[in-house]
Amino acid sequence: MNNVYIETFGCEMNKNDTNIIKSIMLKEGFNIVSQFENANAILINTCSIRENAEKNIQNRINYLYSVANSSKNDNNKVIIGMLGCMAVQLGEKMFKSSKKIDLFVGPDGYSNLPSLVNECLAGAKKLDIDFKKKEHYDKIETYIDKKEIYAAVTIIRGCNNFCSYCVVPNVRGREKCKDFNSILKEVDDIVKKGAKSITLLGQNVNSYQQDDINFPKLLEEVAKRNQNVRISFLTSHPKDFSLELVNVMKMYNNICNYIHLPVQSGSDRVLQDMNRKYTINTYISLINSIRAELPDVSITTDIIAGYPGETLEDHQATLDLMSLVRFDSAFMFMYSARQGTPAFNRRDDVNNVEKKRRLNEIIALQSKISAKNNQSEVGKIISVLIEGKSKKYANQLVGRSLNNKVVAFEYGGSSARVGDVVNVFVEIATSKTLIGRQTN
Ligand code: SAH
Ligand code: SF4
Ligand code: F3S
Repeated sequence: MNNVYIETFGCEMNKNDTNIIKSIMLKEGFNIVSQFENANAILINTCSIRENAEKNIQNRINYLYSVANSSKNDNNKVIIGMLGCMAVQLGEKMFKSSKKIDLFVGPDGYSNLPSLVNECLAGAKKLDIDFKKKEHYDKIETYIDKKEIYAAVTIIRGCNNFCSYCVVPNVRGREKCKDFNSILKEVDDIVKKGAKSITLLGQNVNSYQQDDINFPKLLEEVAKRNQNVRISFLTSHPKDFSLELVNVMKMYNNICNYIHLPVQSGSDRVLQDMNRKYTINTYISLINSIRAELPDVSITTDIIAGYPGETLEDHQATLDLMSLVRFDSAFMFMYSARQGTPAFNRRDDVNNVEKKRRLNEIIALQSKISAKNNQSEVGKIISVLIEGKSKKYANQLVGRSLNNKVVAFEYGGSSARVGDVVNVFVEIATSKTLIGRQTN
């Protein structure tokens, strides 16, 4: 009765949480199975960020429930657990109404998961969506798949920013920093297991603080101790991004030359309503200062189309900003009203057809900009960390550059292997990929 199947939705943090969950479950004697048909408990680590995400997950749970329980009766029923952000967002309501889900556990409740699963297997129905005041996963050695050369370490959980549209502060609670020494130890462990690239994760890594250790100091220490490993970080809120951090990035060749700096909108009026706490002018000056120090840096962003009250002028301001900044790539979304957020009470007045139109315009512009930016890499020799074989072409390997671009190259006979760093001469660029040949 102890086979557990886990499926994960949502952001990098959620994927990393699944590794914490796996570690906790394995320690208590559960097996992690890769097919849900073999499981006694199916756990879904969920995301609430947009309505679409929730709908997809609901459909998936309905499917898993019906298939997993089709040949079972009440005595050998497979239990279904909803973990993560949706459990907090919808758990209380669904706990009363859902016949399919036996267990709801929020992002701070995983230490208790083994006993909760056991109780549910014995017939109970359980809800634990409370937040802890302090980070309490410090001592857990995060599970890491031996084959993975990419790994992530969560350094700060939760969010204190309350952007008007965003459910994260509600579903993950306030910021909690992981202990500095525990972070260093976790990075050491992961590197020993073979990781070649580590991402330090948080909703806003820049607000990391433990005594006098801020994020630039933490990043420096991690980079200094692991000079053969690529170090990157995700995500940075523009209001907290400091030039101290840029200096650290400049000092260490193993820190990726890549910054994700979500802007959300190009209109000051919208940004103010979103409670983002910066203006377009300050955002642009920040980008200029970063690029003055790190000329080859790749900068990516997030953009929301059709925020409540967004006018055609506001939308145009976003397109203008994109043309000016020329992001290397962007995650682009239609606004989705989330219950419990400040913007939920605003009239969601840009209709869906118009939202979609604006989003498509944003996507089309970004795709042109990405293609043009990538063109400027043609003719360069860049260092690539090999991830694996190309899915498209049998004789190609794929990897990433130090500025996080996907690179595909022919490996005709070379002995390069996953995890190696090789030099690639870039011959062709598309909006998504650089294509070239290995030079060493
Ligand atoms: N902490 C990160 C991002 C968290 S969510 C940050 O502050 O940048 C990732 C992205 O989802 C956000 O940057 C935003 O662009 C998008 N997003 C969040 N809530 C949304 C909503 N209600 N509708 C549409 N997009 C949303
Ligand atoms: Fe959400 Fe804003 Fe926090 Fe990012 S900073 S997680 S967008 S509230
Ligand atoms: Fe991540 Fe989605 Fe939660 S984006 S923090 S899993 S709401």
